[in-house]
Amino acid sequence: MPAAKRPASPVAPPLSAKGSASAGKSGRSVRFAVVGDLHVTRDCAGMLRGFFAQATESADALLLCGDLTDYGTAEEAKVLADELGAVSVPVVAVLGNHDFESGMPQTVSEILAGAGVRVLDGEPCEIQGVGIAGTKGFPGGFGRGSLGAWGEPAIKAFVQEALNEAMKLESALAKLRMRRRIVLLHYSPIAGTVEGEPVDIFPFLGSSRLEEPLLRYPVDAVFHGHAHRGALEGRTINGVPVFNVAKPLLQRSRPDQPPFRLFELPRESLQEEAGTPESDGYPPAR
Ligand SMILES: [Fe+2]
Ligand SMILES: [Fe+2]
Repeated sequence: MPAAKRPASPVAPPLSAKGSASAGKSGRSVRFAVVGDLHVTRDCAGMLRGFFAQATESADALLLCGDLTDYGTAEEAKVLADELGAVSVPVVAVLGNHDFESGMPQTVSEILAGAGVRVLDGEPCEIQGVGIAGTKGFPGGFGRGSLGAWGEPAIKAFVQEALNEAMKLESALAKLRMRRRIVLLHYSPIAGTVEGEPVDIFPFLGSSRLEEPLLRYPVDAVFHGHAHRGALEGRTINGVPVFNVAKPLLQRSRPDQPPFRLFELPRESLQEEAGTPESDGYPPAR
């Protein structure tokens, strides 16, 4: 059965949960169910509907942090699209490295978009007054261990890709006009939430270059996946909470809780949602 279409839009107009008034399920707050690294295979057919129903039962939206599929095939994407038929709230996602493995990330995105999923690749969107900026991100290391653009062209191209992803994130954040903002990534912007993984592979789990836009634009929370054996929570240099929502990590770290994170933000009034346009792309004061 084809998955049901859900409302999806760019920044305006705001998304509302299907079957609920603009007040949403949570009254004075907007609640998100967030998880990454589903790694859907063709064998998952019929297996995820219960999980998605549970994740979105009391949430206004479902946010997915990449590695949606295991090998990035059209077949896997179709399985996920069908399983998402159980979800009656807006779904916003970014892709992960696994979604690129078969060389058809655009096909994966299109199949999911056909099921009503808003797949972000450097664009913003809005759900009930909360702005969401999303992009996949890229590896490269953290802090003083970051790979520098020096030497061979291949090294420079690698670093440039991380910079491109950071610029996508910055561009999406610059377009958001609302006070409440969430960032979706697949790769981590900080070392704190990859702690627990072997130190040798830290540089492959994220990049500090993704943290730079988070220091200039007000953000309420950042979510990422990819580091299956990382840490649940960390903070950017300026104190923004960062949550690793990789499903394997959530399952292992909190076996008594469902493998997704619920995150709540106060619902802003419509007047506050509109906000004051930022001048010439400069970050707004909060
Ligand atoms: Fe993963
Ligand atoms: Fe990954």
